[in-house]
Amino acid sequence: MTPEELIAAARAAARHAHAPYSRFAVGAAVLLTDGSVVTGANVENASYGLSLCAETVAIATTASQGRLADVVAIGVVGGPMDGGGETPVSPCGRCRQVLNEAAQLGGRDLPIYCAGLTGDALAEHRLSALLPHAFGPADLGFGAV
Ligand code: THU
Repeated sequence: MTPEELIAAARAAARHAHAPYSRFAVGAAVLLTDGSVVTGANVENASYGLSLCAETVAIATTASQGRLADVVAIGVVGGPMDGGGETPVSPCGRCRQVLNEAAQLGGRDLPIYCAGLTGDALAEHRLSALLPHAFGPADLGFGAV
C-alpha cells in the first residue's frame, strides 16, 4: 500500500469524526503486516477533556484485534471541518507515546505519513524523530526494540 493510499483511508475515517466542539476532524489509518488497515477518528465528548484522538482510537482498535505488534505504518490527516485544511497534521504528544507502544512491541521505527483533510501535501516522519529517547515497553523488558 502506498502512503497516498494510507492517507486516503485516513481521510475516509475522518469523515466519521465526532468533533462538534473543535470542528477539527482527524482520521488515522494503521497499516498492518498482512496489508490490512485499521482506522479511527477523533471522538470528542461534552466533557471536553475526555475526548479521544484519532490515532489513539485506531491503535486501541488495533490492540483489541490482537495486532498491536503488527503495525508497520500510520497515516494521519486532519483539518477544520468547515473548509481549508491542506496543511499536514502530525500526531499530538500523547498519541506519539501511544504509537510508541506498537512500534516497540513490533520492533519497528514506524513511518508516519501526515496530510491535511485535502490537498497533495504529504509529510513523512519516523516515530523516533517525533518522540526521541522514548520510554516504552522495551524499558520494561517487552518487545523487540
Ligand atoms: N486530535 C487528534 O485526533 N489527534 C491529534 O494528534 C491531535 C488532535 C483531535 C483532538 C480534538 O478532537 C481535535 O483534534 C482538536 O484538538
